[in-house]
Amino acid sequence: MTMREKIEEAAVRYPNRRSAIMPALLIAQREHGHLPGPVLEEVADILGVERIWVYELATFYTHFHAEPVGMFHLQLCDNVSCMLCGSDNLLKYLETVLGIKKGGTTPDGLFTLSTVECLGACEMAPTMQVGDDYHGNLDIARIDALLNRLRATAGRAAGIEHASARPQGA
Ligand code: FES
Repeated sequence: MTMREKIEEAAVRYPNRRSAIMPALLIAQREHGHLPGPVLEEVADILGVERIWVYELATFYTHFHAEPVGMFHLQLCDNVSCMLCGSDNLLKYLETVLGIKKGGTTPDGLFTLSTVECLGACEMAPTMQVGDDYHGNLDIARIDALLNRLRATAGRAAGIEHASARPQGA
């Protein structure tokens, strides 16, 4: 199914085309990995809505990405509860161990590091979202364990890809 067909299918579940912009952006981001200008314009054209409406939503929500992101997008909350529980230090630590600054992506393409507003999980501050998962009560040891798990996941994924790329009988 093409992106257009997926967006059309999603749009019929909404009372009007403007209401379908959010799900359409999610579909477009799944297709392209991120949302550069031409993709936003394509979404607007498919829905037949004003391009500015699409731009407004795509630039407001932190889970939409104008630039490509790494395999794992580390979104550390730096809002009040998390900051009071040490998110500043965790950000510095992540920047050091990953060798990148906030907003950057590691050269191997594994990690992109961002800070975000409240994730709505203040009870487990400091909190970080990675993909669809939340990780809370973070400290340096938990960050290290999480990064190791994510690297192992990437290693397994690369192994599976490598194995499936091997010619039959090799
Ligand atoms: Fe960080 Fe709410 S302030 S989750």
